[in-house]
Amino acid sequence: MQVGIDMGSLTGGQPARLDIEELLATRLLVQGNSGSGKSHLLRRLLEQSAQWVQQVIIDPEGDFVTLSEKYGHLVVEGERSEGELAGIASRIRRHRVSCVLSLEGLDVEQQMRAAAVFLNAMFDADHEFWYPVLVVVDEAQLFAPAVGGDVSEDARKMSLGAMTNLMCRGRKRGLAGVIATQRLAKLAKNVAAEASNFLMGRTFLDIDMARAADLLGMDRRQAEMFRDLQRGNFVGLGPALSRRPLPIAIGAVETQARSSSPKLMPMPETVEDVEDLIFTPDPEELTRPLTRRARPAPRPTTDILAELSRATPLQDQPIARSGGEAASSGLSAEEREERVSAVLSEILADPDSGYRTDAALYQDFLVRLRMRRVSGSPMPLGEFRRRVAIARSGVDAETAAGEAWATALRLSAQVSEDLQGVFLMLAVAAIRAEPCPSDARIARAYGTHSARRARRLLGYFEEQDLIIVHADHSGKRIVGIPELQAETAPGAADAPDEDAGGAEAAE
Ligand SMILES: Nc1ncnc2c1ncn2[C@@H]1O[C@H](COP(=O)(O)OP(=O)(O)O)[C@@H](O)[C@H]1O
Ligand SMILES: [Mg+2]
Repeated sequence: MQVGIDMGSLTGGQPARLDIEELLATRLLVQGNSGSGKSHLLRRLLEQSAQWVQQVIIDPEGDFVTLSEKYGHLVVEGERSEGELAGIASRIRRHRVSCVLSLEGLDVEQQMRAAAVFLNAMFDADHEFWYPVLVVVDEAQLFAPAVGGDVSEDARKMSLGAMTNLMCRGRKRGLAGVIATQRLAKLAKNVAAEASNFLMGRTFLDIDMARAADLLGMDRRQAEMFRDLQRGNFVGLGPALSRRPLPIAIGAVETQARSSSPKLMPMPETVEDVEDLIFTPDPEELTRPLTRRARPAPRPTTDILAELSRATPLQDQPIARSGGEAASSGLSAEEREERVSAVLSEILADPDSGYRTDAALYQDFLVRLRMRRVSGSPMPLGEFRRRVAIARSGVDAETAAGEAWATALRLSAQVSEDLQGVFLMLAVAAIRAEPCPSDARIARAYGTHSARRARRLLGYFEEQDLIIVHADHSGKRIVGIPELQAETAPGAADAPDEDAGGAEAAE
């Protein structure tokens, strides 16, 4: 079925058509600075296509809830438990109901988690419910940021993973991503790269313009035209739009954005008793908690101190007492390394460490080093992550000394830091021809409890040509690593994770 919707007008006044069926297969990326008209454009697209295709909108500002009045979209408020959100998302797919996931009022980290849970549950829908859905994500750089920011590593990983699933692997499942961003350079590259249709609006910054030019296959000079675009004007390109860059003026919309730009209003008459008015509290104010949302409590320092006093590995070494700063500067490189390794082992020996974020572990690590009076410039976070990955792989001294391990380390650099530990764990098993780790074991190495995610990770490594997964005659899993010329012994994928009690750290 071919359906062309009308997005607005071309320079000559003819309608600008967007082929919806083609869009489902080839996805769309919209970019333009704040105020360039992206949300308006998305609204036009949603309104025009509402009768043809199911729609799900991930809406950080709660802008799109007004679609419910005229088009019947169900509004889902994001402030719910993860279980609830996942349940709603899977019923949304089953019953083919269009909805707006409104994330207004949540902090960024909560927005990321809620969107991730919702998108993943849609992605994981049973095969029989793989109907086509337009999944529109406004301000997509929030959910698929190019670099880590203030949010926890864990939230970033979740959200980026869900957006990657949507854009890279969603097509077969009927999910068609339509994403809008104000800063192309802030959007994760792999997520942007999966869209084959583009609508580029006004863009000021050279770096965004350069990224846009690269995506569109234009030379950078040509891309300068994005700087002069007026609000509501975009350049479209792609199989669902046009084979060569085409200027489009986006047409009018039926519904209004709920949050429009602020308008000037006359100031109120001056009132008397301003102080009274402002400083007299309502009775209920006094019972309200101080902040709206509590963050998870950081690990109390006393805990760490208590644990330190229990820790044994370093007690036979002289540890400087307070005032003994000189002792630390006297550490040789080996002594320093020994202490750093010991602290690392200590942290990873905590059974819960597998489920804590790298950022939290890193803080813990720095505090403990300071307690041990290991001075000098601290290990950077990137290096720390790498060390954690190696420690978590459970590599023993003998394996670590071999040539194959050096190759495994080199290969691991092909995946992002958060995945290196998992890959190295598989490499250790392959080098030593031990049984293939179970889903539960892989999940723990990745810091999750989800077996499904563990299997997805293997799928990802396979896509990267790092591993080959196959099974023996009894259905047990074998992971081969071609570059190492090695493979694991068969292992049951569904075996329980026996020593979930503690990750060993071998240095
Ligand atoms: N094509 C258009 N026609 C009329 N008004 C528009 C058009 N595009 C944007 N606007 C108006 O301009 C303002 C900013 O647009 P918006 O879509 O919110 O920008 P963005 O999402 O890129 O920040 C809004 O008030 C919107 O209604
Ligand atoms: Mg907007």
